Amino acid sequence: MSSSVQIQKENRVAVLTIDRPKALNALNEEVLLELRSVISELENISVVILTGSGEKAFVAGADISQMSGMTPLQARAFSELGHSVIELIERSPYITIAAVNGFALGGGLELAMACDLIYASKNAKLGLPETNLGIIPGFGGTVNLVARIGFHRAMEMILTGKPISADEARTLGLILEVFEPQDLIPKVKEMANKLSKKGILSLLAARRLVRSAAAHSKEKAMLLERESFATLFSSGEPREGMNAFLEKREPHFSLPS
Ligand code: CAA
Repeated sequence: MSSSVQIQKENRVAVLTIDRPKALNALNEEVLLELRSVISELENISVVILTGSGEKAFVAGADISQMSGMTPLQARAFSELGHSVIELIERSPYITIAAVNGFALGGGLELAMACDLIYASKNAKLGLPETNLGIIPGFGGTVNLVARIGFHRAMEMILTGKPISADEARTLGLILEVFEPQDLIPKVKEMANKLSKKGILSLLAARRLVRSAAAHSKEKAMLLERESFATLFSSGEPREGMNAFLEKREPHFSLPS
C-alpha cells in the first residue's frame, strides 16, 4: 500500500513528512486518516517534526479536487476529520514542531498552527486563501490564526486570502525563525534534539499550561500552574533535573513507559 506520510525516527525525535508532492502535499481524506493513525501510534518519542516532501510545499491546503464535489454533510465530516487531526496534534504526548518548507496554505497553515513551534524556510508562503475558492478555513484557521496574530491581522489574512512571506510571518509572530531552505531541517532537528533531552512530563505540563492560559481567568490559570507544579514532583523528573544541576552533570531523563 502506498503511504503518504513518511516516518523517520532518530533517538527520541520523529520526522513526519507529508509525501504527496504531485499535489503539493494537499490533504485529502486518505492523507488525514493516515496522519491521524501515525500520530496516535508513535511510541517512545519526545518531539515530532512535521514537514512536507519536495522543495516547493509544506502543504498547499486541503485537497480542492476532493472538496469540489462535497455535499454539506460530506463537508462537515471532512472538517470534523481535519479538526480531529489538529486536536490530536495539540494534545499529543510529545512536543510538535512544524518545519514549513514552502507553501503552507489553507489546511497546510492550519496544520502548522496545531504544532507547538513553527519554523520556516525563506521561500515559504503562508496564508488562508479559502475565500478565493468560495469557502472558509475548515481546519481551525478562524480560531487559531486569531490566537496567534490577533484579530485585525487575522481578519485581513482571511478576508483577502493573500499569502504572506516567511519574513512577514516572522514579523507577525506567526513563525519563530526563517532559515535558508537547506538549513531548515538541520536547524529544526538541532532544536528537536535539545528538547528531546528534557523531561517529557515537564515539557508537556508547560505546553498544556501555555496552551490553556488564554482560556482561563488569571486566577484559574495560576491555580492550574500551582497544581501542575506540585504534581510534577510526584514524578522522577524534578529530582533528576535538580540533582544533576547540583552535582554539575547533565541530567538523564527517561521516558515514562
Ligand atoms: N488541492 C489539490 N491539488 C492541489 C492543491 C490543493 N490544495 N494545491 C496544488 N494542487 C495541485 C495542482 O492542482 C497541480 O496539480 P496538476 O499538476 O495535476 O495540475 C499541482 O498541485 C501543482 O500545483 P500548481 O501547478 O498550481 O503549482 P503552482 O506553483 O503554479 O502554484 C500554488 C502553487 C500557488 C500553491 C497553487 O497550487 C495553489 O494556489 N494551490 C491551492 C492553494 C489553496 O487554495 N489552498 C487552500 C485550499 S482550501 C482549504 O485548505 C480548506 C480548509 O481549510 C479545510
